[in-house]
Amino acid sequence: MSCVREHIFLTRDDSATALRVQAFRRYSLVALGWTLLVIVWGAYVRASGSGAGCGAHWPICNGELIPRSPTMQTIVEYTHRATSGLALLSVIALVIFAFVATPEKHPSRKWAAWSLFFMLTEAAVGALLVKAELVANNATASRALAMGIHLVNTFLLVAVMTSTCFHAWREGEAPSWKERGLKLQLVLLALVLVTVVGISGATAALGDTLVQQSVQNAFVDFLIQLRILHPLLAIGGVIAAITAGWASWSVEAARRWIVALWTLVVLQVIAGLTNVVLQAPVFMQLIHLLLADLVWIALIVVLRFVVTGDQRLSLMSSVTGRSPSNSPSHGL
Ligand code: HEM
Repeated sequence: MSCVREHIFLTRDDSATALRVQAFRRYSLVALGWTLLVIVWGAYVRASGSGAGCGAHWPICNGELIPRSPTMQTIVEYTHRATSGLALLSVIALVIFAFVATPEKHPSRKWAAWSLFFMLTEAAVGALLVKAELVANNATASRALAMGIHLVNTFLLVAVMTSTCFHAWREGEAPSWKERGLKLQLVLLALVLVTVVGISGATAALGDTLVQQSVQNAFVDFLIQLRILHPLLAIGGVIAAITAGWASWSVEAARRWIVALWTLVVLQVIAGLTNVVLQAPVFMQLIHLLLADLVWIALIVVLRFVVTGDQRLSLMSSVTGRSPSNSPSHGL
């Protein structure tokens, strides 16, 4: 009888844990999705020249908490601030959720904490852009530098949030360094090159924005000349990403993501060429930026697979101490 009672107790306990884990998994994806939307909207702020829509005030807008009689630019900038404020809250919730839903030392806890760190630095970079007036028609080298720093911080934020999701859905046994070998080096090389491509893209985008806003000075001429550099660097990034996927093919669990990576890279090249042909209309700028983030996410997932290896160990099994096949969450 006591045995039956214990069995019922464990089952209830497990199903509560399973619900928490399932909710955490889904929530981690929602938080990442929301952050991507905020990033794309941030590019719209730049492309529409709305960065000074709240003046040089931050976090309040033109000296008001809620702007009265706003212009279109104020609405665009204010929406970005409001949505990024929600993104910050969503990441704070992600950290709390990770600590509630996962056991001690679970990797999602560490990555969620890093997500909060990079979300705060992202906000700091945004505040710096506004306070130093590196927005709207500003055509200086400092603005180009700030765009590069912003891009790198965004990539780091997306990387750690993706890692939080990855470990919420899947864990693995770490293979030996020898086993990771060349594929790990190639994936890391691809990540570095795609970052360099992204920085050159952000500079190209700044040049396009200033030209579209009829800003003219020696620095804009310099940016226009630099535009050719981005597609040239992209060739290297594309080859590196494809090669990294090919080298990681032996990790069976990663194969779906490698195919996704290759597909996204091809789509990105098509979007880049379309940008050149159509002279970067705003909607294509946004699509190109979103695809850059998706290529980046796919590379990060492949990296996590290469680092953690093929063997699957579900989160639930580490919570309940049961083998994955007995775990209630198996197959979630
Ligand atoms: C893996 C490959 C690539 C990545 C990761 C990448 C990344 C980026 C990024 C992050 C931007 C800045 C977007 C923004 O802030 O709005 C950008 C802009 C741009 N990219 Fe790429 N890109 C890639 C390939 C290409 C290719 C192959 C071409 C052309 C053949 C291209 C053409 C452009 C152009 C013209 C812009 C400026 C458009 C704008 O004003 O936003 N890109 N790219």
